[in-house]
Amino acid sequence: MNKFSQLPTILGISFLISANALANHNTQEAMEARVSAVGQLSIADDNTGSVATDAGPVDGSAVYAASCGACHGAGVAGAPVLGKADDWADRIEQGIGALAEHAINGYQGSMGVMPARGGNPALSDEEVTAAVQHMVDQVQ
Ligand code: HEC
Repeated sequence: MNKFSQLPTILGISFLISANALANHNTQEAMEARVSAVGQLSIADDNTGSVATDAGPVDGSAVYAASCGACHGAGVAGAPVLGKADDWADRIEQGIGALAEHAINGYQGSMGVMPARGGNPALSDEEVTAAVQHMVDQVQ
């Protein structure tokens, strides 16, 4: 076997490598196109003043389930019960702003103590407000 007899094999391998590189390049191009499309979307959000964050819109029912339902689901410790209109009518008259303020900062009422952010300091104002809105929506 002389050294030239391996040439076709070497050429074949280098073709495969470059074809593979081309395929990877296409994949990366496709990825860049998808990423830049997302980038444009968030710029559009900024322009329209949308409140959506990078993590997407806040899901009030999910925040409620994770941090509020333990008390508000069954009225534990005097908490107004989710979906029970009588428990909420007078409270809702204060307006959603006052309700959210009480939920964010906590307060002591005649029924008991509403802990700030339901006792979960990791929640943002936006998340607590979305949970309050979710609770109000259940009785309106
Ligand atoms: C440890 C129990 C507990 C948890 C957890 C809890 N709450 Fe409360 N919450 C209460 C109690 C008790 C009251 C009633 C206080 C009163 O009026 O005497 C209350 C009242 C409220 C009110 C009515 C405020 C008003 O001005 O009448 C809102 C709104 C509210 N909670 C929202 C939330 C949200 C949102 C969460 C979750 C982020 C949450 N709560 C988690 C116990 C809890």
